[in-house]
Amino acid sequence: MSVKDDFTDCETNVRLDGKVALVTGATAGTGLEIAKNLARRGAKVIIASRNPSKLADARNTIIQDSGNQNVVTRHMDFESLSSVRNFADTTLKTEPRLDMLINNIGAIGLDDRLTEDGLQLMMQVNYFGSFLLTFLLFPLLRISAPSRVVNVSSLALILGTIDLEHWNDVGQYSNFGYYCNAKLADVLFTVEMEKRIRGSGVSVYSMDPGLGKSEFFRNFDNVLIKNVLNSALLKFGRPLPRVATMAVFLAVDPKFEDPLKKYVPNYHISSDPPDNGDGPSLMTSTSITQQSAPRLKRNS
Ligand SMILES: NC(=O)c1ccc[n+]([C@@H]2O[C@H](COP(=O)([O-])OP(=O)(O)OC[C@H]3O[C@@H](n4cnc5c(N)ncnc54)[C@H](OP(=O)(O)O)[C@@H]3O)[C@@H](O)[C@H]2O)c1
Repeated sequence: MSVKDDFTDCETNVRLDGKVALVTGATAGTGLEIAKNLARRGAKVIIASRNPSKLADARNTIIQDSGNQNVVTRHMDFESLSSVRNFADTTLKTEPRLDMLINNIGAIGLDDRLTEDGLQLMMQVNYFGSFLLTFLLFPLLRISAPSRVVNVSSLALILGTIDLEHWNDVGQYSNFGYYCNAKLADVLFTVEMEKRIRGSGVSVYSMDPGLGKSEFFRNFDNVLIKNVLNSALLKFGRPLPRVATMAVFLAVDPKFEDPLKKYVPNYHISSDPPDNGDGPSLMTSTSITQQSAPRLKRNS
């Protein structure tokens, strides 16, 4: 199987009637397109974000696009872990099942400061929030098995380092550095989670969506930087509905069951041997771990 740049090979006809999906960061960009795609398949879709009016607009957009009224909005701000806990509590109390959790929230250009939880803001929004959410919702995923978690990472992880003594220190990394570290942590979390939950009926994947036409750089204060970077995404990024196809493919398609293939670099799924003849060019969680290992520092 090979996947073209436009993700056409990730197309799937799977219907999701009776299934429940949770998409984080679904008020804009890729998350909104993922939510629309899942709603079109008949799933009940819970969308979570921090801005009530953007949530309401997103809900209307998803309903208009899909004709599916079963779209629930719920507040969650990753800048506060108590907000994540409140969201998870409500979800556990109100939802009898959860079949798909798409951890899509991500941001760059946030202040270099500690949150009320004592974590570096970029690290919390890009990694710890999703980690905590997944941990809290795991019991619901487990009783809904077979169920799936998809962590939206980034190829930026290849520039990431994880120094467990300092990964939360303010002033330790550039803004992009924190982002890379968080995305690396996200994939390592996927790898470890997969080992720990094997046999539970819950599958976990992480993926690189590649460049997508979002306004991902909107948080930068510097207008020049913000506009240049967002314009570059608009020019070189792929259409977001196409990008969303890959996350949905991982979340729903029965073809994608190989437990060894957990990290999916963008538009590059292939069972053909790569040039170096090392095996499938679909990057496995193992290969990511091995690549990342020299960058892991543990000061004990
Ligand atoms: N776009 C790319 O080229 C690209 C490339 C590689 C990886 N990615 C990854 O793909 C994912 C989606 O990116 P995107 O381009 O679609 O970004 P986006 O358009 O900026 O959307 C990000 C979503 O996350 C939400 N969010 C941000 N901070 C939040 C917080 N503190 N609490 C709750 N929600 C928050 C945003 O809500 P608000 O509107 O309230 O901020 C928005 O709904 C991210 O994980 C990103 O790292 C993107």
